[in-house]
Amino acid sequence: MKSTKPFLLFFSAVITLSSCTAISQKKASQNSLKDAYKNDFYIGTALDINQIEEKDTKTTQLIAKEFNAITAENIMKSMFVHPEKNKFDFETSDKFIAFGKKHKMFIHGHTLIWHSQLPKWFSEIKDTAEMNAALENHITTIVKKYKGKVDSWDVVNEAVNDDGTLRKSVFFKALGEDFIAKSFQLAAAADPKVDLYYNDYSMENPAKRAGVIRMVKKIQEKGIKIDGIGMQSHWHLNSPTIEEIEESILEYAKLGVKIAITELDVSVLPSPYGMQGAEVSQRFANNEKMNPYPKSLPDSMQVKLAQRYADIFKLFLKHKDKISRVTFWGVNDTQSWLNDFPIKGRTDYPLLFDADLQSKKAYYSVIEAAKK
Ligand code: G3I
Repeated sequence: MKSTKPFLLFFSAVITLSSCTAISQKKASQNSLKDAYKNDFYIGTALDINQIEEKDTKTTQLIAKEFNAITAENIMKSMFVHPEKNKFDFETSDKFIAFGKKHKMFIHGHTLIWHSQLPKWFSEIKDTAEMNAALENHITTIVKKYKGKVDSWDVVNEAVNDDGTLRKSVFFKALGEDFIAKSFQLAAAADPKVDLYYNDYSMENPAKRAGVIRMVKKIQEKGIKIDGIGMQSHWHLNSPTIEEIEESILEYAKLGVKIAITELDVSVLPSPYGMQGAEVSQRFANNEKMNPYPKSLPDSMQVKLAQRYADIFKLFLKHKDKISRVTFWGVNDTQSWLNDFPIKGRTDYPLLFDADLQSKKAYYSVIEAAKK
């Protein structure tokens, strides 16, 4: 009788080799944020001008390795792309689009209609006809220019107050609440295929949520296209709670739209007067008590941040069928707007990469969450 030993040895070698390959493939597939979540949702970051212009090679490499979606942190806002009534300036936004194309990324446009970072000429319009014309020219020109290049737009940003009423912005004053539906209508006409989002902060607050839902329903009842809701997600270590976030995800999803987490960061610093959200007009004075980690973040706090991110991503994964994209508001801690908000000159640690572009504990906890 022929001995079966060589066959057994051969088969066990094949099995060992293939399981090693499976493990190394698994490891390789979890080598970056975008790979860890590739079957779930896009993982994005906001880019500042230096990152768009690829001023630092290490930063560019990190962005290309970790992220598959980008948003311009500032340069697509109206004060930059439409500085004068009859003048558009696409020099920097073209570079942003080129960056996304080069790295084969999902490109999100931020933002068409926002009351902040508006050029002077836009912010001074009071007349209804003039505002209608300005809105039409602004949205149509920009959306057509990037038709087929931008994958989704924040059409209207921050139009709802925390109590659910509509913000009395320059657009509202000239056009009433119709400016919201009209903006979506204009964007859809300029590029029928691009995804159109409403984007705002404090979207977990029940009163604000009710206002946003009312507003979105009105757009839908008019038969106007709205594809998604952007929850900015400028959060803190303990607030909002995971339950509050989940409730909002579920409520927005009932509208039949996609949900994107558009500007995620977690501040570890004390919040003045328990302030939440991202109302840019609110500023407070700096002092030692409000800036407790000027040099580095203690390990105990790194652990807390890592746990918070783990909880957040566990929730996102639970609702991955509803979530299209999770974008961090910046690449690393030094870039974060939170170093200057709501108190100027503090040192915050809200992101996954530190000042030296090193992965923090929070980075590993987000990668780990994907494995579970
Ligand atoms: O453009 C000037 C430049 O000329 C000047 O040299 C420099 C000196 O400080 O300031 C530059 O303007 C800054 C601008 O960012 C562009 O870099 C402003 O001071 C600064 O206040 C502004 O902050 C941005 C903020 O929006 C404005 O409201 C933040 O970087 C940006 O992260 C933040 O992003 C917003 C989202 O768009 C909407 N949701 C809230 C989020 C956080 O506020």
